[in-house]
Amino acid sequence: MKIRKAVFPVAGLGTRFIPATKAMAKEMLPVVDKPIIQYAVEEAFAAGIEQIIFVTGRGKKALEDHFDRSFEIEHTLMEKGKDDLLKQIQQLVPQTGTIVYTRQNQPLGLGHAIWCARDIVGDEPFAVLLADDLIQTDKPVLTEMVKKFDRLRASIAAIMEIEKDQTDKYGILKATQIEDDIVKIDDMIEKPKPENAPSNLAIVGRYILTPRIFYHLEKGKKGANGEIQLTDAMKALLNEQPIFGYRFKGKRFDCGDKVGFQMANLAFALERPDMRDKLISFIREIEKKF
Ligand code: G1P
Repeated sequence: MKIRKAVFPVAGLGTRFIPATKAMAKEMLPVVDKPIIQYAVEEAFAAGIEQIIFVTGRGKKALEDHFDRSFEIEHTLMEKGKDDLLKQIQQLVPQTGTIVYTRQNQPLGLGHAIWCARDIVGDEPFAVLLADDLIQTDKPVLTEMVKKFDRLRASIAAIMEIEKDQTDKYGILKATQIEDDIVKIDDMIEKPKPENAPSNLAIVGRYILTPRIFYHLEKGKKGANGEIQLTDAMKALLNEQPIFGYRFKGKRFDCGDKVGFQMANLAFALERPDMRDKLISFIREIEKKF
């Protein structure tokens, strides 16, 4: 049961980033010099994923073009002898046929977006990556989760501890620790108020799910914010199958949030030898002002 397919819900309008996202997909905003979505797609391929399923919506053409060849740019780079750049843009284009697009034609929530991919996924376990969650780590999260899945043979979500007053932004767990980095989920609730949250253990945007999830998503039950929530379908799945949580090691940035996005840019830029020194002296300089 190899995890071959990964679903990327990318239909969101990105209203938090208006005006930047007025005519551009929010997933195309760059962290340093790469669009947010490319980090997640690279993570998926590195984990052995063979097929990328984008659940898109209107206004996502740039995203489709990004993963397609651009003969014009390739030709120009070739003529100018810019071989490094040429290689870079050729490498980012997956082999033809490995990306599939479907549309979520109504904004009915994350669960609905995943359900839109049901026929493309079929009857096999699959991964879900929420590109907004950018994770800086030595061990790519999805690769680790695939290994855990091979052993546990059950659905698994990436998890982390969050500030108690932030529970209404996440799927929150009631869980039992069973290994250093693995919990067994007992219950889950989407976006509870802090006073109703069973813990401060939150789901982060990496999942491996068994196809049975589609049965529960099919019911189209609305939950938090009036949307069809993936967390609710997972909660229903819990009655039939175990679900585990994987505590990854690393720093997660919420690129769907303006501050999180700026932090991600800084953190990833500081990892780059060509930018690091200049940025550090700049940070030291402006730090004195505050
Ligand atoms: C989604 C999920 C939520 C999860 C979060 C992680 O929420 O519904 O359970 O904790 O992603 O980023 P969203 O950020 O789409 O509101």
